[in-house]
Amino acid sequence: MSKSTDQTMQQIVSLCRRRAFIFQSSEIYGGLNGCWDYGPMGVELKRNIKALWWRDLVTRRTDIEGVDCSILMNAKVWEASGHVQSFTDPMVDCLQCRGRFRADHIVNNQCPTCGTKDKFTEVRHFNLMFKTFVGAMEDNSSQVFLRPETCQGIFANFDNVVNTCRVKIPFGMAQIGKAFRNEINPRNFTFRSREFEQMEMEFFCRPDKEEANKWFEYWKTERYNWYLKYGIRKERLHLRTHDQNELAHYAAGCADIEYDFPFGRAELEGIANRTDYDLKRHAEFSKKDLSYFDQAANARYYPYVIEPSAGADRATLAFLVDAYVEEAERTVLRFHPEVAPVKVAVFPLVNKEGMPEMAEKIFLDLKKYWNCYFDDKGAVGRRYRRQDEIGTPYCITVDGESVKSNSVTVRERDSMAQVRISVGELVNHLSKTLTSGV
Ligand code: GAP
Repeated sequence: MSKSTDQTMQQIVSLCRRRAFIFQSSEIYGGLNGCWDYGPMGVELKRNIKALWWRDLVTRRTDIEGVDCSILMNAKVWEASGHVQSFTDPMVDCLQCRGRFRADHIVNNQCPTCGTKDKFTEVRHFNLMFKTFVGAMEDNSSQVFLRPETCQGIFANFDNVVNTCRVKIPFGMAQIGKAFRNEINPRNFTFRSREFEQMEMEFFCRPDKEEANKWFEYWKTERYNWYLKYGIRKERLHLRTHDQNELAHYAAGCADIEYDFPFGRAELEGIANRTDYDLKRHAEFSKKDLSYFDQAANARYYPYVIEPSAGADRATLAFLVDAYVEEAERTVLRFHPEVAPVKVAVFPLVNKEGMPEMAEKIFLDLKKYWNCYFDDKGAVGRRYRRQDEIGTPYCITVDGESVKSNSVTVRERDSMAQVRISVGELVNHLSKTLTSGV
């Protein structure tokens, strides 16, 4: 990492802490590597991103159903999915300094920490799933895993949804939820964590190469455009199709949506053609017929699956990094209004002459529509800067003129332009950009 990109990342991490976006997990005890807590600003930001994903993929569509499955599942799920056998990293220990490394990251057979050559243990395969036990017995029969991906809950419920909802292929099932991976080397702030959230959608279609390819292309474009729609800079967003030798064992095709983070270009989301691999494996391991009867075609088959799989924490980090701008006089997060954690801040210019009462009433009225912030402390310029740093699109100031003419000034974050609006017109005025609210 070059010094300037390193500094940018450090500044973003420091802003996240200072402005209550993201804290280290259990910080008072020295933290826990790979785990993060979202503060009052961060939780709003991440909830907005998840809500926009859910709105655009589930509630605004007619062909996708949502589910919310448990994190702990029958251990057989992970045998069927292939995770018990192959969700592993190859590891070696340095016999000199006892450091542990991924075998494929060792260059010239030299220890990256102490420099010793040719002194490693045999390669051992380390499974990335967290293990725990259900019930009072801690033995093999009660061992379960914290799910390392959310999509297996969708496959396990495919038949339930087909039998209870009026779905017809092509259709999708979507889920947002926690996933856990015992990453060997969590790094780059929240980018690679041990506990994180996924936003996954499995789109089932006819098991026909052309049909699957059509939906694969469709979802690549949809998902790429989704990030652009909420303001991610196009020049930093890339679609990369995987080479044949990069594909996971279950995939017939895969493309990554990548973002240029300060620490380099890295994966935000993967779109994969998983074929009929998962449903067939679950049918084999559960001994249940999970095939689908297509009435229109009068045929029974195992559908193919196209899967856009995104990380909610990675998306949140990308929106933060992308919005971050340092100007001569201020640091500002230029969030898209629907992404911004706080939509409107309300300030009384001074704490007298009826201004605080009027400002508080406006604040409480606007709170019925949007997440708002009230600030009556310090110089108004500093209050603006504070809101700029959390990316609030509008600041409303109640001044002496307000009390006389029932009007306020509305300052727009990016242009810093101010207009005077009558109080009765405020909701209309703000609704032009602050749409339905998520
Ligand atoms: N069901 C397919 C699947 O899980 P993946 O590429 O392993 O595919 C999908 O994960 C997405 O989940 C990634 O693109 C990333 O956004 C997020 N993700 C995966 N591992 C992560 C980690 N350790 N920390 C944060 N996000 C992660």
